[in-house]
Amino acid sequence: METPKDPFAFILDEHDRQFEICARLENFVGTLGSEPCAREAAALLTFLVQDLPVHIEDEERDLFPLLASRRGDDENLTIILDQLVSEHELDRGLVEPIVQDLRHIADGRTPSDIKRFCMDVRAFSEAMRRHINWENRVVIPLAEGILRAQDREHLATRIAERRRNLAPRGS
Ligand SMILES: [Fe+2]
Ligand SMILES: [Fe+2]
Repeated sequence: METPKDPFAFILDEHDRQFEICARLENFVGTLGSEPCAREAAALLTFLVQDLPVHIEDEERDLFPLLASRRGDDENLTIILDQLVSEHELDRGLVEPIVQDLRHIADGRTPSDIKRFCMDVRAFSEAMRRHINWENRVVIPLAEGILRAQDREHLATRIAERRRNLAPRGS
């Protein structure tokens, strides 16, 4: 993919997509059983196993270290970044059972426990929305204020490299 001109706008766009995915997941579990859904399950799976991990890598490997390098003496920032990293870890745990259930559905089978699947989706979506709101309101404005032109270029380059290395969709 092309290197984004504005890496912060790129991350904000991805956050918008993540909000959409939360709504699609909730809609998906709300209509389970009443509509054919293997294709939607496969699309949601691609997001959870491919797009979301790459986004988290952008933040953990590039955005957060760049912020820390410019404001390493700011204790509040250190606490915020540590909190966001532990939320990523929590999200990975929440995603795992959802991925298993979506794989079942994408293969034309039924999840073993639909009630638990619904609860997992609700917990994940709520955690994601809280996390994204925090990043949108605090982290991105801070990054726009303190990262320098060379930091932005570095972040943009890494975002593009990471996506060029992904397997093509549908493979
Ligand atoms: Fe994040
Ligand atoms: Fe994010």
